[in-house]
Amino acid sequence: MGKRLPVSILFLALAPLLIIAVHAKVPAVIVFGDSSVDAGNNNFIPTVARSNFQPYGRDFSGGKATGRFSNGRIATDFISEAFGLRPTIPAYLDPAYNISDFAVGVTFASNFLAGIAEGFLRQLYGLGARKISLGGLPPMGCMPLERTTNMMGQRACVDRYNVVAADFNGKMNNLTEKLNAELPGAQIVFSNPYFPLMGIIRQPSLYGT
Ligand SMILES: *[C@@H]1O[C@H](CO)[C@@H](O)[C@H](O)[C@H]1NC(C)=O
Ligand SMILES: *[C@@H]1O[C@H](CO)[C@@H](O)[C@H](O)[C@H]1NC(C)=O
Repeated sequence: MGKRLPVSILFLALAPLLIIAVHAKVPAVIVFGDSSVDAGNNNFIPTVARSNFQPYGRDFSGGKATGRFSNGRIATDFISEAFGLRPTIPAYLDPAYNISDFAVGVTFASNFLAGIAEGFLRQLYGLGARKISLGGLPPMGCMPLERTTNMMGQRACVDRYNVVAADFNGKMNNLTEKLNAELPGAQIVFSNPYFPLMGIIRQPSLYGT
């Protein structure tokens, strides 16, 4: 968990987020994460994990299946709107958008993240960003799709996906420490939703279910 940021569990559960805050205003929402926060990057990379068909997008503007794994908008779209930014955050790989569009938000969600994150954080720093909140990944192997398709494992969490998420979080934690030490004035915090969410999944009764 981030030590300096009072972030709620709900917020952490919703999305692995990177938010750049300048003068207490949030000028942009940059999303790193897994498919649960992908706004459609999967349409532009070779993968079987697609959502560009109905019923995905059924309740999206125009009924369009954008590549979001949702019937409508996803959590990060709502967060962007709540900050007074665009009601939807575009996918980085979507050719319909350019760098000007990304100035107020972009989604990098997919699986090639750890390497991109460092370069991107350094660029943000170069552009003047100093306070950055970097969100980790949830236990991805416990997401509904993974559990539902884990028939051999009696619909339990899929360990190998959880291992990937935990490893990514470890890398982000190390990266945060490294950049804070290296970049003068940088205040980067890492919020790790993995263990709080795992606690909820293991003992839902403690949380009112
Ligand atoms: C991005 O596209 C918008 C129109 O969609 C255009 O106004 C803007 O100049 C473009 N920006 C760049 C850097 O190409
Ligand atoms: C994080 O850094 C520690 C100490 O340098 C190292 O042992 C560990 O393997 C690193 N974790 C990851 C996931 O790279």
